[in-house]
Amino acid sequence: MIFKQAFLALALAGGVLSLQAQHRPAPKKTAAKADPAMAASIKRGAVVYKNVCITCHQADGGGVPNMNPPLIKTQYVLGDKARLAHIVLAGLAEPIEIDGNDYKQHMPAQNYLTDQQVADVLTYVRNSFGNKASAVQVAEVKAVRATLPK
Ligand code: HEC
Repeated sequence: MIFKQAFLALALAGGVLSLQAQHRPAPKKTAAKADPAMAASIKRGAVVYKNVCITCHQADGGGVPNMNPPLIKTQYVLGDKARLAHIVLAGLAEPIEIDGNDYKQHMPAQNYLTDQQVADVLTYVRNSFGNKASAVQVAEVKAVRATLPK
């Protein structure tokens, strides 16, 4: 009799455990964790950002209101990757408005950076400061550079 009860208790416990296992939420995967190549690119991109972009766009990507625009969830950062690569390779000299602030200073071209460095820094920016977007590939940067005057 006592054996039967023990068996029942075990069976119940087992059932509860397996139910819990089924209901455990899937571990949160970040894009970077799922893709080691992307994680490495982000790491290299952080170095480029610190060397090149940080003076204007600041450590937190927040920019300087009415001088240097933020890189936080803007349509330029999260949108078309070719346009984004074009901004870094050719600079930007057109008045833009972000979050109600006007920007009309020119961003100088950073075309001395290699295709790899541009891909890395943009992958970093697209996955920092609260941004989350796909990696920028070297081939995508290369294609944009090919359209620019030498
Ligand atoms: C000398 C200052 C300066 C540096 C260095 C600089 N930027 Fe900019 N950036 C600007 C300014 C000013 C604008 C706005 C230009 C305009 O309105 O025409 C801008 C615009 C942008 C934009 C589009 C607008 C937005 O905020 O989404 C992106 C993206 C961007 N920069 C990324 C970068 C990246 C990445 C680097 C480093 C590789 C970099 N910038 C380096 C000054 C700078």
